[in-house]
Amino acid sequence: MTCCASADNFFNDSHAKRDLLWYRRFGPLPSARKILRALGDVHNRSFIDVGAGVGAITHGALLLGAKHVTVVDASSAYLQTLLKEARLQKHTDRINTYHGDFVEIAPTLSKADVITMDRVICCYENVTGLLEEACKRAAWRICMSFPRRAWWSKGAIQGFNLVQRMRQHAFRVYYHDPEYVDQCLADSGFVPVKFDKSILWSVRLYERQ
Ligand SMILES: C[S@@+](CC[C@H](N)C(=O)[O-])C[C@H]1O[C@@H](n2cnc3c(N)ncnc32)[C@H](O)[C@@H]1O
Repeated sequence: MTCCASADNFFNDSHAKRDLLWYRRFGPLPSARKILRALGDVHNRSFIDVGAGVGAITHGALLLGAKHVTVVDASSAYLQTLLKEARLQKHTDRINTYHGDFVEIAPTLSKADVITMDRVICCYENVTGLLEEACKRAAWRICMSFPRRAWWSKGAIQGFNLVQRMRQHAFRVYYHDPEYVDQCLADSGFVPVKFDKSILWSVRLYERQ
């Protein structure tokens, strides 16, 4: 099973329904709030939201005046749920969606000002390919969250993968070293300009030089 097929299986209808309920009751998760805060003024900016889930960042950016969001997600359940919420928030006309692996879809997309990846790169083994494609499509900024360099983040990932193995589920989570992530972005001309963190997640904003 490919990594994106396993993500499609894992992030299924019940996962999406649960996340939508949470979003409607409590709003965006802390990592999404931090990403939106780090980006600041997004008025009239175009976005590509990779692995958008139910769309906390997509909806947030549009509510803050973003011009358009292209959503690419490996999970069809998440995409359908995101569109359901977009209809409720009355901004479907400013969203278009693609189902599949961003690394494969990216070459067909136009550039956007901003690329966001909230808790996404840890779902993908080929982080180099994912970051390279993101850098090619981002005209201005890339903002993402990923597991912090801390023993408890690595422990949580190992524990999660152990349970997945015991259940014989193919989906896995990956730890990618923040220094390696910074290096990949630097190789494509992006420098880190803001940092934030929570207990589990590191949030980084990069800007094209
Ligand atoms: C942990 S969820 C995060 C969802 C949302 N961003 C959030 O923070 O609630 C990871 C998401 O990334 C998507 N994903 C992972 N790798 C992807 C890839 N290569 N291309 C497109 N989507 C991907 C998964 O389908 C899933 O929707």
